[in-house]
Order: sequence, then C-alpha cells, then structure tokens
Amino acid sequence: MEIKIENANLRLLDALYRIEEQCFDAEAFTKRQIAYLLTDYNIIALVAKDGPNIAGFIIVQVETDDLGFGHIITINVAQKYRGRKVATCLLEEIERLLKQRGANECRLEVREDNHAAINLYQKLGYQRIGKLERYYDSKHGLYFKKPL
Ligand SMILES: CC(C)(COP(=O)(O)OP(=O)(O)OC[C@H]1O[C@@H](n2cnc3c(N)ncnc32)[C@H](O)[C@@H]1OP(=O)(O)O)[C@@H](O)C(=O)NCCC(=O)NCCS
Repeated sequence: MEIKIENANLRLLDALYRIEEQCFDAEAFTKRQIAYLLTDYNIIALVAKDGPNIAGFIIVQVETDDLGFGHIITINVAQKYRGRKVATCLLEEIERLLKQRGANECRLEVREDNHAAINLYQKLGYQRIGKLERYYDSKHGLYFKKPL
C-alpha cells in the first residue's frame, strides 16, 4: 500500500462523509457541516489516498489570532485502513503545513474513552493539558496540545 497525501475538496464530499459515518455515531459531522468546513478559508483539509481509494482524512482549523495555532477538528481513518499508519501520515503532514503557515502549536480535543486516538496523539508527542467536563454529552473530553 502506498499512501499519498493530497488536499481535500468538495468533489470528495460523499467519500469523506462515508468515512465519517464509519467513525462516529451521534457525534458524526453531517455532510453539510463537512461541506462547510471544506470551503472555509481558515481550514486545511487533507486526504490520504491508496490509489483511487480514500483511506482517511483530517480537517484542521488555522487560528489566525496572535498566538497562531492549529486546531484539529477531526481525523478519521476508514475501518479497513486502520492500524497501517494512515493517521500518523496525516498528522505529520498537517503539522508540517501548520509550521509552514507560522503556527507554533497544534491543539485538539478527544473523548476520554477513545483509547486508539489518545494513544496516537501521545505517540506523536501531544500532551494532555486538561479535562473538559461533559464535552461530548455525558462523556468527558481531554484537551491535548503539542508545540510545533
Ligand atoms: C484513531 C484513528 C484515527 C487511528 O488511525 P490509524 O491510521 O489506525 O492509526 P495509526 O496506524 O497511525 O496508529 C498510530 C498509533 O496510534 C495508536 N493506535 C492506533 N489504533 C489503535 C488502537 N485500535 N488501539 C490502541 N492504540 C491504537 C497506536 O499507538 C499506534 O501506534 P502502533 O501501531 O505503533 O502501536 C482511527 O482509529 C479512527 O479513525 N478512529 C475513529 C475516528 C476517531 O476516533 N478519530 C479521532 C477523534 S479525536
């Protein structure tokens, strides 16, 4: 498998939404929300492609205030591509692009029982800096960040 990282665009909306549905239940973004994000000027959205197939995607907001940081909105890998470093590739590329844009930090929230994602972030050097009470309805969230 050779994974290539490319910019996401609206033409890929259906494929991205199919992956989003595999990844989340009630918390999933709607197709309309994903479309809105893809057209936002302050968003960087990337897809990981295996030939013509989309293995996963990441959407990050670039905060343009004085602090200059990236905020990961979502990162999703299709079930059949999990455990093959697709998310690692997406995160490494997004960090490179954020640095290029002058961001010096990347932040994210994750549900406290999402062990796969927490392991991923910790492996890549993200540090837990706080707990977000009932951030996901009844579930708590954890707040992570990493200096770039
Ligand atoms: C979390 C997710 C993005 C990981 O994607 P992935 O491509 O399978 O991750 P990678 O192969 O790059 O894994 C990198 C590291 O993450 C951790 N990890 C990934 N999947 C894991 C799992 N199921 N259980 C425990 N740790 C896991 C491991 O530390 C792994 O390193 P290792 O393979 O050397 O052990 C994927 O499981 C997913 O899309 N989940 C649903 C959506 C989601 O929860 N997104 C995050 C929202 S905050």
